[in-house]
Amino acid sequence: MFEDKPLKYELLHKDKNSNARRGRIYTPRGIIETPVFMPVGTNGTVKTLKNSDLKDIEAEIILGNAFHLFLRPGLDVLRNVGGLHNFMNWDRPILTDSGGFQVFSLRDRKISDEGVLFRSPLDGSKIMMTPELSMEIQMTIGSNIAMAFDECVEAGAERKYVEESVDRTYEWAKRSFTAHTKKDQALFGIVQGGFHEDLRDKSLKQITSIDFDGFALGGLSVGEHYSETERILKHSGPKLPEDKPRYIMGIGTPLIILMSVENGMDMFDCVLPTRMGRHGTAMTWEGKVNLKAGKWKYSTDPIDNKCDCYACQNHTRGYIHHLIRKDEILGKILLSIHNLRFLINFVKEVRKAIEEDRFIQFKEEFLSNPNNIY
Ligand code: GUN
Ligand code: ZN
Repeated sequence: MFEDKPLKYELLHKDKNSNARRGRIYTPRGIIETPVFMPVGTNGTVKTLKNSDLKDIEAEIILGNAFHLFLRPGLDVLRNVGGLHNFMNWDRPILTDSGGFQVFSLRDRKISDEGVLFRSPLDGSKIMMTPELSMEIQMTIGSNIAMAFDECVEAGAERKYVEESVDRTYEWAKRSFTAHTKKDQALFGIVQGGFHEDLRDKSLKQITSIDFDGFALGGLSVGEHYSETERILKHSGPKLPEDKPRYIMGIGTPLIILMSVENGMDMFDCVLPTRMGRHGTAMTWEGKVNLKAGKWKYSTDPIDNKCDCYACQNHTRGYIHHLIRKDEILGKILLSIHNLRFLINFVKEVRKAIEEDRFIQFKEEFLSNPNNIY
């Protein structure tokens, strides 16, 4: 089936009224139905969830991060156990980000054509992150999908700077492709270009000229208003190659997932569901609910009566309100499980709607509730 490719994308159905598409990604670790939401497990753990919880919520693929895993536990440990799947005892697909986002958010860093020089947050030692090092890290992690090392610029960056970063990202993409020698691991390229449509076009042409296994839109969700995200999605999403998976990095609100799907994107990830969960906020079919609020003290309702997750099947808003107020760990666990299950069910409904050519109706009905716009 793989014809010695580490990944295969199958386009199952195109929505009649939009660019939404229903597909399937085959990897040696399992099949991924798309559009897919991927829980983020930066440090080799999706915060507060055990692997059995991830299986219960039907997570088909999780994320890891090259930058974080390189700092801790480090390549020696990962090499010694034979990669991240073994280390965390997770047998389904893993995607790793290249670190091209995390190093740029550090304060003390210097970008050059060679790479990014930064101080280790652990011991202050100087480290040069390069496309070659990022590939070595991701090959050692043994993720099923690795990402090219790119430069993600901030929302307010000047055009001149974005121009330079587009060319640098192309040079780094070529170096990533050359340094990547692990045949059973897929490698995706990342398109940049900030919020300039001509630079997005230039980057898309450059990156898609390389024979990557899939393509991502990067540089979004960097603090811009969602109308700006949508403008770039509309402009660039449908131009990505049809025969490969399309991934928009770091987005995870239902609104932007819908905008992304409408413009032909297949894969999404975000820390939002787990981060919001740890802070006491639930994502529901009727918008966000702050369970810290006093009005839930006596509630005997579940978080969301449409939800089939462990938290909604076993506990009330009143109980979770109490746990969050007391800062009990279980409150964070239950809300993280629920929020991830909500998004996984949400994309499941999106997939059904695409199959039945009613994606636009689904989107409009969901967004007709203003509470769902965030
Ligand atoms: N995560 C969110 N945005 C980005 C991006 O532009 N590049 C990378 N590597 N990771 C991201
Ligand atoms: Zn639930």
